[in-house]
Amino acid sequence: MKKVFVTRKIFSEALERISSFAELAVWPEDFPVTHKALLAQAVQVDGMLTMLTDPIDAAVIQLGREHSLKVISQVAVGFDNIDINAATLASIPVGNTPGVLTETTADLAWTLMMTAARRVTEGFDEVRRGTWRPYALDTLCGADIYGATLGLVGFGRIGQAMAARACGFNMRVLYTQRSRDLEAEKKYNATYVSLEDLLKESDFISLHAYLSPETRGMIGAQQFAMMKPTAVFVNTARGAMIDSAALVAALQNGKLAAVGLDVFDPEPIPADSPLLKMPQVVITPHIGSASLQTRKRMASMAVENLEAGLAGKPLPHCANPAVYTSRK
Ligand code: DGY
Repeated sequence: MKKVFVTRKIFSEALERISSFAELAVWPEDFPVTHKALLAQAVQVDGMLTMLTDPIDAAVIQLGREHSLKVISQVAVGFDNIDINAATLASIPVGNTPGVLTETTADLAWTLMMTAARRVTEGFDEVRRGTWRPYALDTLCGADIYGATLGLVGFGRIGQAMAARACGFNMRVLYTQRSRDLEAEKKYNATYVSLEDLLKESDFISLHAYLSPETRGMIGAQQFAMMKPTAVFVNTARGAMIDSAALVAALQNGKLAAVGLDVFDPEPIPADSPLLKMPQVVITPHIGSASLQTRKRMASMAVENLEAGLAGKPLPHCANPAVYTSRK
């Protein structure tokens, strides 16, 4: 029987399914698997079911390749924790879970946008602290979402799901990415602009790109300086796409009004981060895809990828399809 290592406890039905076609070992701890443990497993397993917190670098991949590793199946759409080039060179397919988490993640991005714009957590804090003051016209005034301009950095599945929501709010939608998507532009009445114009013109800015060498640190001091001082900035993609020190400075200097973050670099956010003390900041702990239905679908999709990879079949959802064309 083939051997599989699952790097974090997952839903029992997913583990049961894996047990029906492989011998299973699960990382038992309540913290992410260590690099050392990954190296130890790489020499003995045929497949790995991985999380976005796992350092699957070239060393792990090459060791696996020298032994019997045939597939890496990531339970996430993002795979920036995996050295994808090393996997392709080693002819190891990497699975991921696109599509199933699109609407759930867009829901959370939208929630953060509205929560930050309408100062919901500040209001709840007042109520909880017992400092709810009598009604006054200037209490916790935020910004209107309806009719405002939304700038989407990245216009793939999740970016477009945001645009669909924006249609119901009568928003003007701007987007930027490497190339234009004429069909989606038409569907969502969206306008393609440069990143610079998007930052200057948007009332709300939301990131929806993959983390890559190109997008790492793409929003820094210069970009924050271009935003409207009234802008609300949201990140549900990856923390490393923004320069956190520049974000703190921008908020302190009034370069933007509010922020909603579901991701940070590093995660968890350090307890002494100045962001945690700022009332205009809303932070959730990387729960963009965390509805029970979606997380179960992600696990199930990852198990399908794993099973296919172990059987030597093409993965239904492969992050490095070049692995099939480059095979000799
Ligand atoms: C992903 O899938 O990449 C999300 O960040 C986690 O659900």
